[in-house]
Amino acid sequence: MPLQAVPLYFSKIIEYLAVRDERLLFFPYRLFHLRWLAFWMYNLFMMNTQLISILVTYATRYGSTREVAEAVAATLGEAGREVDLQPVRKVRSLEGYSLVVLGAPLYIGRWHKDAHRFLEQQRETLDHKPVAVFALGPLHEAEDQWRAVRLQLEKELAKYPWLAPAAVEVFGGKYDPAKLRFSDKVLAAAPASPLYQVPACDLRDWAAIRTWAAGLAAQAGAPSPQASSPA
Ligand SMILES: Cc1cc2nc3c(=O)[nH]c(=O)nc-3n(C[C@H](O)[C@H](O)[C@H](O)COP(=O)(O)O)c2cc1C
Repeated sequence: MPLQAVPLYFSKIIEYLAVRDERLLFFPYRLFHLRWLAFWMYNLFMMNTQLISILVTYATRYGSTREVAEAVAATLGEAGREVDLQPVRKVRSLEGYSLVVLGAPLYIGRWHKDAHRFLEQQRETLDHKPVAVFALGPLHEAEDQWRAVRLQLEKELAKYPWLAPAAVEVFGGKYDPAKLRFSDKVLAAAPASPLYQVPACDLRDWAAIRTWAAGLAAQAGAPSPQASSPA
C-alpha cells in the first residue's frame, strides 16, 4: 500500500463507521475534524515505520566480527538510535533503514564472501543509502601489517565502484590456532603462511570500536523519539 494513501484509508474507515453508527457522529467525528484525525494517525504511522533506522550486519567465521558488530549496535543504541543487528546472510530487505553498517573479516586477503554476496544482491538499494564498512584482520601490532590490511580492504571495496562508504575502518582481529577448522589449520601449518606459529591473540580495541560507532551515531542524524526517551 502506498504510504500517501494511508490518510485516505483512515478517513474512509471512520466515515464508514460514522455512517453505520449514529453515535459516532456525535463523538469523535464532530469534535475532531476528519481530516485532522487522519493527519495525526498518518504521522503516528510514519513515526513507527521510521523506528528501525540503522542496520548493523556482519559476516563471520569464528564469531569475533559478530562480537564487534554487537558492540557497534550497542553503542548506536546508547546514543539513542534504533538499531537492528543481523547476520548478513539473514538480511532480506533494507527498507526502513537510514544507514547500513556492514562488517566482515579478511581471510587470505579477501573480505568474507558473505559480505561480497550482500553487496552484489543489495546493490540497487545500497546505491541510494549511506553505508559504513568495517573489517577485522590484523593479528600483529606492527604498523606495516595494518597498512597492508587497509590496502587489502581498499582493493576489495574497489570491486564496487558504485559504493561510496560514509566510513571505512579496520579493527584488529582475534585468532586462536586451537579452534581453527581443518582447512584453516592446514593453511596455518605451512611455514610460508603468515599464520605460521602465530600465537592466540585478540587485538580488538573496544574503546576504538565504540568511538567509531559513536561517530556513526553522530552522522546518522537525530535520535528516534522512542529510543531516546528515558526508560
Ligand atoms: C585462515 C585465516 C586467514 C586469515 N587471513 C587474513 C588476512 O588475509 N588478512 C587479515 O588481516 N587477517 C586475516 N586473518 C585474521 C582474521 O581476519 C581474524 O582472525 C578475524 O578476527 C576473524 O574474524 P571472525 O572471527 O569473525 O571469523 C586470517 C585468519 C585465518 C584463520
